[in-house]
Amino acid sequence: MVILVPGGAGFIGSHTCVALLEAGHEVVVADNLCNSKAEVLDRVATITGKKVTFYQIDVTDAEAVNAVMAKHSFNGVIHFAGFKAVAESVEKPLLYYYNNLVSTMVLAQACLKHGVKRFVFSSSATVYGANKVPFVETMALLPPASPYGHTKAMSERILMDLVEANPDWSVMLLRYFNPVGAHPSGLIGEAPTGIPNNLMPYITRVAAGKLARLRIFGNDYPTVDGTGVRDYIHVVDLAEGHVAALNKPAKGVQIYNLGTGRGTSVLQLVHAFEEANGIKVPYEIVARRPGDIAECYADVSKAERELGWKAKRGLVDMCRDAWRFEKNYYVKD
Ligand code: WQD
Repeated sequence: MVILVPGGAGFIGSHTCVALLEAGHEVVVADNLCNSKAEVLDRVATITGKKVTFYQIDVTDAEAVNAVMAKHSFNGVIHFAGFKAVAESVEKPLLYYYNNLVSTMVLAQACLKHGVKRFVFSSSATVYGANKVPFVETMALLPPASPYGHTKAMSERILMDLVEANPDWSVMLLRYFNPVGAHPSGLIGEAPTGIPNNLMPYITRVAAGKLARLRIFGNDYPTVDGTGVRDYIHVVDLAEGHVAALNKPAKGVQIYNLGTGRGTSVLQLVHAFEEANGIKVPYEIVARRPGDIAECYADVSKAERELGWKAKRGLVDMCRDAWRFEKNYYVKD
């Protein structure tokens, strides 16, 4: 298949480009590079030995998107081009609503115009809100805790309504849990600008001596050791989940959790990292972070049953691969 990958130079997008190319698909990336670099795509080519066609465009720009669509005969779109920093979305809600919703609408509209009927959307476990764990796809959604989360829930709604009106479309809503790690080559990974918000990139920065210590946000949650529990998934497993989703020839809307089904606490992740890499990660316990929930993990049985996909990589792989990337590239920033 020929696949348009908006946001393909980003963390999850770049790993998915690798998985798509390795599975024999042709990949065209559209990215405005606002939070990524073009050389990531060179590294994707180095890993796979295959070329990626790249357009530096903003996918909220309908004219630019239509021009790209007119040049290729796409079989599908996998839309990763969204802002994803939760705290920033609280400070700049309009930026988030505009970018994340307009990009989805512009891409979907261009698909309608150019007869592309397969759309895969990067959604998030945040759409489950304060539901009880494990999160199951059939649960009624509860309000997410941030504007970022609302953009994911609203994009899902838009795409569901679109399928209602166009029943020959195939829309996949993939709800990611906590993607971490990096490609085992150490060539691509997560490279947030500034001080990371998320746990794993913060840990690797501390391990690299770029930040003094990790601040653990609360140890009084009703969890195994009082720290927050999340479902960390290796980004390569997540990328492979997209290839599995593309292989399912289904019409209508399909929703899948992409996680491991296992919860890991902050302290468990810190200790796994220390053991996997033989490095100490100094930390201190501080107050809870506003908006955090105690536990978040997936029921992953639907993806396994219907897509034949299951996360294969464990915490040791996630920690080793994240650290390898940090040492190879990111540490030099
Ligand atoms: C994980 C755990 C923190 C940093 C967010 C988005 C979600 C998804 C992934 C992405 C929590 C604790 C963290 C630190 C800490 N979307 N923590 N010290 O909040 O589960 O999910 O990212 O695009 O929508 O909400 O991930 O990595 O920030 O936090 O103690 O410095 O680590 O409290 O328990 P989160 P996270």
